[in-house]
Amino acid sequence: MNKRETIRSLLYNISLEHSAIIQYFVHSLLMDEPEIRSELEEIAREEMRHLKYFAHKVRELGGTVTIERNEEELKIAGPEWEKMIQSNISAEDKAIEVYSAQLDAVKDDSVKRLLDRVIKDETAHRERFGNILEEVKRKYSVSRVARSPASDEEEILSGLFTEEYRNILEYLHAYFNDRSCPHSHRYLDIAIESMVHMGKIGEHLSERGVLPDISKPEVEEADIGIKVIKEEGSLNKYDSALEKVEDKEARKLIGWIRNHERFHVGLLKDILSSSHRLTVGKIRKR
Ligand SMILES: [Fe+2]
Ligand SMILES: [Fe+2]
Ligand SMILES: [Fe+2]
Ligand SMILES: [Fe+2]
Repeated sequence: MNKRETIRSLLYNISLEHSAIIQYFVHSLLMDEPEIRSELEEIAREEMRHLKYFAHKVRELGGTVTIERNEEELKIAGPEWEKMIQSNISAEDKAIEVYSAQLDAVKDDSVKRLLDRVIKDETAHRERFGNILEEVKRKYSVSRVARSPASDEEEILSGLFTEEYRNILEYLHAYFNDRSCPHSHRYLDIAIESMVHMGKIGEHLSERGVLPDISKPEVEEADIGIKVIKEEGSLNKYDSALEKVEDKEARKLIGWIRNHERFHVGLLKDILSSSHRLTVGKIRKR
C-alpha cells in the first residue's frame, strides 16, 4: 500500500468511526436505561478518539482530513433494544475486519501501531456489546422514543441539534487541517463544547419521546472571518428560540447554551483580530 492508498484507507476509517459514533449516540438516546446509556456514551467517546487519531495520521502523511459518514454502515435498527445492540456488534465486527485487512497491507510502521491498538479497542467493544446484549435479552424490550419532531417547539429544538452537529464537523475540520494556526486548539474546544450541546438537546428531545433529525448536515470550509459570522448566526438561532419556546426545561437548556455561544463569538473575534495582527506583522517584516 503506498502513501496515497494509506491516506485513502485512513479517511475511510474516519467515515466508519463517524457512523459508529452517531449510531451509538442515537442508541444512547433510544435506550434510556442509565447503565446502558453510559456504556454507549463511553464507547462512543473511544470511537471519537479513534477518529481523532486517524485524522492526525492523515495530516502527518500530508493528506487533507475530510469527515465523511459511512451511511451504508450506519444502522440504527430497533425499535427492539436487542436489535440495536446486535447492530452495534456488527459495526464492531466490520471495523475489526476492515482494520485487520489494512494492518496486513499497510507499510508505515506508525500506522500499523495505530491500527493494532484500535483493533484491540474494537475487540473489547465487541465483548462489551456482547455482555449488554445478554442483559438486554433478560430485561428490556422496545424503545419508547419513536417519533419525529411534530410541534413547532420540537422542530426548533431539532434544528438546534442539527446546528450543533454542523458546528462539530466544521470546527473539527478546521482543527485537523489548520494545525499551523496557533489557535487551532480553540477550534477543538468549540467542537467539544458543541458535542455537549448536541448531546443535551438530544437527551431533552428523547425525554419527550422524540428523535431529532440525525442526517449529516452540509459542511462548508470557512475562514476565520466567516466563522465569526456563522457563530453569530448560531447565537441568533438560540436568541430566537428563546422567544418562541415555552417549555421550562427547554428554555433553561437553550439559555445555558446561548451563553456558551456568546462566549464562542468572543473567542472567534479574538482569533480574528490576532490573525489580522499576524498578517500585518508579516507584511511589515517584508
Ligand atoms: Fe473505533
Ligand atoms: Fe468500537
Ligand atoms: Fe453550541
Ligand atoms: Fe458555538
